Amino acid sequence: MIGNRLNGLSFSFKGINWATYFLEFIHKNVLLGNDFQNLMVRLNDLLRRKSNYYQDIRAGVPAPIRLFRLKRPLIMDNPSSYLDANQKLWDQKTEVHVDSEFYDMKSFLAGQTSLKEIELPLLGDIKDKSLLHLQCHFGQDTLSLARMGAQVTGIDLSEKAVQTAQNLAKQLNLSAHFLASDVFQLDKKLEGQFDIVFTSYGVIGWLPELKSWARIIDHFLKPGGQFVFVEFHPVVWMFDDHFTRFDYAYFNTEAIIEEIEGTYADRNAPIKAKAYNWNHTLSDVIGSLLERGLQVTHFQEYDYSPYDCFNHTVKTKKGYQIKGMEGKIPMVYSLVVNKN
Ligand SMILES: C[S@@+](CC[C@H](N)C(=O)[O-])C[C@H]1O[C@@H](n2cnc3c(N)ncnc32)[C@H](O)[C@@H]1O
Repeated sequence: MIGNRLNGLSFSFKGINWATYFLEFIHKNVLLGNDFQNLMVRLNDLLRRKSNYYQDIRAGVPAPIRLFRLKRPLIMDNPSSYLDANQKLWDQKTEVHVDSEFYDMKSFLAGQTSLKEIELPLLGDIKDKSLLHLQCHFGQDTLSLARMGAQVTGIDLSEKAVQTAQNLAKQLNLSAHFLASDVFQLDKKLEGQFDIVFTSYGVIGWLPELKSWARIIDHFLKPGGQFVFVEFHPVVWMFDDHFTRFDYAYFNTEAIIEEIEGTYADRNAPIKAKAYNWNHTLSDVIGSLLERGLQVTHFQEYDYSPYDCFNHTVKTKKGYQIKGMEGKIPMVYSLVVNKN
């Protein structure tokens, strides 16, 4: 360890010889040629591991930790870096999700809908309607919509998710069209307009900004068409992963870059990958749609999640809530928007 040679210059804090670790780290990473971003992730990780970070945490479950933030221009200078990273991550997640208890494939194959009680009444009778499902993951919701009689098109960034969705449609003998695409590039790959555009739960956090998102929704809606949206509430994303404190801004000020380990559907899954996320305020969401001239006809907030995808949840009569915060924080919201 080259740091040991400079012991006279080093200092300790809580038993950590920072100079030693820093020099060791520079030696391993700069001299071995890692790029700057990777270097920053590793530095952060090193400091976190060597500090007493985990002692503050309520439960000992090592969940994904948001490591550090970069100002958005660094990412937007090279948009493919966030898309490539997120696609790799979702390809890996898909492989785990298909076989997970969370996605309960057995019940789904036996005919159970994967749609939840929040979106079902908002969608209403969709028989014979054309429906575009954005960020459809591996197609359970899309195929549930097909079972309700809609003519569905599902799109997702992950090639693996789209292949899995296509195989599922074949297996279930359901008519559905799936396409691999970044949401923002969809108008270059897909033609036509739809009666309904639908997207739900854990979607907009993967998009850097919402003006382009609203443009795509508007582009694919027929006049008289409807956009149905259910999403986790931005308040949930302000907390650290253990809901002990506010770690993140409500506002979309910068990219959040995480080294992900595991996944919400299986925390022990052998997934280790970088993820790029953004927080989006309710005014960003509603404002971006209003700017397109779309009309908001429904907006509601819920103090529970129908999915058990967070740490420290308790199952209540409504759904899943965070222990100690039952009924105190919004966890999901729904929005319906019409195009004249
Ligand atoms: C949490 S999942 C969607 C949740 C869905 N309700 C479900 O559980 O089946 C998020 C999806 O967004 C997709 N995604 C992420 N970034 C995207 C992008 N830029 N364009 C299209 N899809 C994207 C991911 O591949 C993933 O399948």
